[in-house]
Parts: sequence; structure tokens; C-alpha cells
Amino acid sequence: MTYSDALRVLKAKAPFVPDLAIVLGSGLGSLADSSEARAGLSIPFTDLPGFPAPTVAGHGGKLVFCEFEGRKVVLQAGRFHFYEGHPMSLVVTPMRLYGRLGAKAVLLTNAAGALNPAFAVGDLMALTDHINLFGTNPLIGSNVEPGPRFPDMTAIYDPAYREHLLACARQLGQTLREGVYLGLTGPSYETPAEIRAFRILGADAVGMSTVPEAIVARQEGLRVAGISCLCNMAAGILPQALTHQEVLEAGAAAAGRFESLVRAFVRNLPQ
Ligand code: HPA
Repeated sequence: MTYSDALRVLKAKAPFVPDLAIVLGSGLGSLADSSEARAGLSIPFTDLPGFPAPTVAGHGGKLVFCEFEGRKVVLQAGRFHFYEGHPMSLVVTPMRLYGRLGAKAVLLTNAAGALNPAFAVGDLMALTDHINLFGTNPLIGSNVEPGPRFPDMTAIYDPAYREHLLACARQLGQTLREGVYLGLTGPSYETPAEIRAFRILGADAVGMSTVPEAIVARQEGLRVAGISCLCNMAAGILPQALTHQEVLEAGAAAAGRFESLVRAFVRNLPQ
């Protein structure tokens, strides 16, 4: 899919150029129902040409343009996952739209499984880097100008934003972990053997989103920050099976802390 029709519609509907886009991951969508969001302009995905309705419980399916903590923000409730069978081009279309609308930055949030044994369910983790195990790359195909054909990914998660997240967490009295997010397609959860292998590779958390979005956001020239809500210990770390339900419940339990952290991040967003 190309994003040009969706961009035309979005440009006509968007009340302003957002400073920041915030992608709300599984179980973290409550900001899209905050008072600021309710006072803002909500655009359902289904209004945007080429956007199908999302299929996973816990994923809303709208963009909300609102004034949030003194900034012009677009909140994305719901995202397109590769495991839903969507083409990679659709998975990353929101990043293209934010870039082309003139946004400066994107905050990507997700629910993830924790591999690092020092981490606990319910912890929030600032992404320091990622490992792409999707088996593909969202930039395959004709280059989308004016972004570079071979974009640098050395500091894909903006170091100044990460420092800012850590400072915000300190001020709030929150523990914020830092670590490497390993992204893969899903939708099956990993096997314990895979999780042991990923630990050797250097991963601290594992999930089914974020990586393609971060790559395209960087290619669009957006500054990127990432937060994982560690909603379960990854497969085999605890002697129990994984369920989507526990992921949603842990996300809901962390929602208050997550919201406080995101609000503080936006309030004093570094230049
Ligand atoms: N693995 C992959 N994706 C996930 C997990 C997990 O353990 N938890 C939440 N998203």
C-alpha cells in the first residue's frame, strides 16, 4: 500500500502539525480516553484510505490530535502488526504519515516479555536499542525519498530522549529499566529455547512490534523514543505458560505509572 491517499485525508482533517506522535501499545491505550484526548479531534483508522480495522483485543484503532501537557500531540490508539497479515508497508504507514505531516518525534510504546532476569513483570523499560528478527526490513523496495537509502541506525532510540525519560522516572520516584528490545513477527510466543538464545544475543525484552516503526521513523528523520511495559516474563523463565490475557492485565496494572511517565516526558520534551 502507499500512504499518499491516507496522507491527503489526514492533512485535510488534522487540526495542527503535531510536535510528537505517541503510539500506545497493548493495554496502554488509556491515554486515548484521557480528558485531553476527549477534547481533541479523533480520527478513526477507518476514515483513512488503506487503513483496515485492527483485529486484536486491546488495540483501539484511532488517531487523536490533542493538546497534551502543553504540546501538540497525536495519540495513536492501536497499531498494525505484521502477524495480522498486513504488509510491512501498512505496518509502518503511520510513521510515514507523521513524518510527512511534519512531526518531529515519535514515542513508541509496547507490551513486551522480559528476558533479563533482573527485571520484573510490570516494570517499564526505555529502549536503548533493538534487534530486528522480523526476517525482513520495512525499507525493502523503492527508496522513499528524501530519506536515505541506507539510513544510519547507530542511535535509533534518541539518547537525549532516553536521558530525559530516566530523569522523568527519577523525579516521579519510578524505576525505569533500560534495555535492548528484540522484535519478531509472532504471533506465537517464543519457545524457551528461543528465549535462551535471545538472551545470549543480548536482548532484554521481546515483542512483536516497534522495530519496523522505529526503522521507518528514523528514515523519516523523526527522533524516536521507546518504552516497553514488561507484561510477562518471557517463555521458560517462569514455570508457567504465557497468555495474552496476562499481558493485558499487566499492562492495565502498569497504566497509571506509564501515563505519569509519558506525561512527564511530553511536558518537558527536550529540544
Ligand atoms: N513475547 C513476544 N511478544 C510479547 C510478549 C512475549 O513474551 N509479551 C508481550 N508481547
